[in-house]
Amino acid sequence: MNAIKLLGTGRHVPSRCLTNDDLSRMVDTSDQWIRERTGIVTRYLCGEGEGNTSSALAAAKTAMERAGVGPQDIGVCVAATFTADHATPSLACELHQLLGFAETTPAFDVNAACTGFLHALETARCLLAAGRLRAPCALVVGSEALSRITDFTDRSTCVLFGDGAAAAVIRLTDDAPYACVLGARGDTQILRAGGAGEMDRFIHMDGPAVFRFAVDAVPKCIDAVLSQAGMTLSQVDHVICHQANSRIIDYVVRRLKAPPEKFYKNMDRYGNTSAASIPIALDELLEKGLARQGQIALCVGFGAGLTWGGALLKL
Ligand code: UT7
Repeated sequence: MNAIKLLGTGRHVPSRCLTNDDLSRMVDTSDQWIRERTGIVTRYLCGEGEGNTSSALAAAKTAMERAGVGPQDIGVCVAATFTADHATPSLACELHQLLGFAETTPAFDVNAACTGFLHALETARCLLAAGRLRAPCALVVGSEALSRITDFTDRSTCVLFGDGAAAAVIRLTDDAPYACVLGARGDTQILRAGGAGEMDRFIHMDGPAVFRFAVDAVPKCIDAVLSQAGMTLSQVDHVICHQANSRIIDYVVRRLKAPPEKFYKNMDRYGNTSAASIPIALDELLEKGLARQGQIALCVGFGAGLTWGGALLKL
């Protein structure tokens, strides 16, 4: 019983939709530049009364409802985020209270930036596999309120990011292949945010350097997952990449000589939602009927740190 079975997913984005045209009235950019260089058209931002916790809560409720589980079934709650509403308590503890989990259900956040959901998933899987949790399911959340740390006067970053959340209820299964690779290059300069100084709190990124990292790391990561599982790409039904830039995914498809339709894209509507991007894409695929129960998805992410990771999931 080592593989992950997805029992249910849910997503939520906040109410304020910002278009490329809106941004071109705020900074020196254009709809054409943003579409051509990133594939992004709209993104959602937290408005009044909205935040990381409210998005994550809505997503988690949907995931639990679709999975047909209640608070008593959740053995652990792990949230991936680096923009929780408070430094402490964690987002996971806020969800623990709001969803009424048992006192013996541990709850904590992990921060691996845009790769966070994969780190959270593998952490939850290992805890389930260790067999000492009170219940057989885990709630794994990816949620961000990136607009709080976005400098809306910096055109090189503000056009890229969006807020949103998604959640997955998982359990273990012995009826699916499993493989997971996680890593970090230990870079602290190329992409950073959240420092103490006034400008340090904003996202600062060397975009082209992250791009070069991504197109190197993602194909290697996919190969490593497949090799660990003893599978080929043709045995995987869907590849769900972190949704940072459409051109990164196009590059990976060309490099792997893979069928493009296997690689889902939705950054056009959400922008880059960091730790939420992979589970938002998973949830959309399932909701739209583009993916079916029982299929195998390979999820792959990269982000600040520079972190990377990939894992197989049974839908
Ligand atoms: O989640 C993980 C985190 N991030 C990523 O994965 C991001 C990875 N990187 C990227 O997606 C791309 O590098 C960006 C979309 C960030 C930038 O695209 P690029 O094609 O690498 O552009 P660039 O940074 O090399 O800039 C090209 C030009 C520059 O002008 P000059 O120097 O050639 O005159 C920029 O100043 O585009 C300019 N530019 C813009 N122009 C209009 C940069 N941002 C904008 C903008 N609108 N928003």
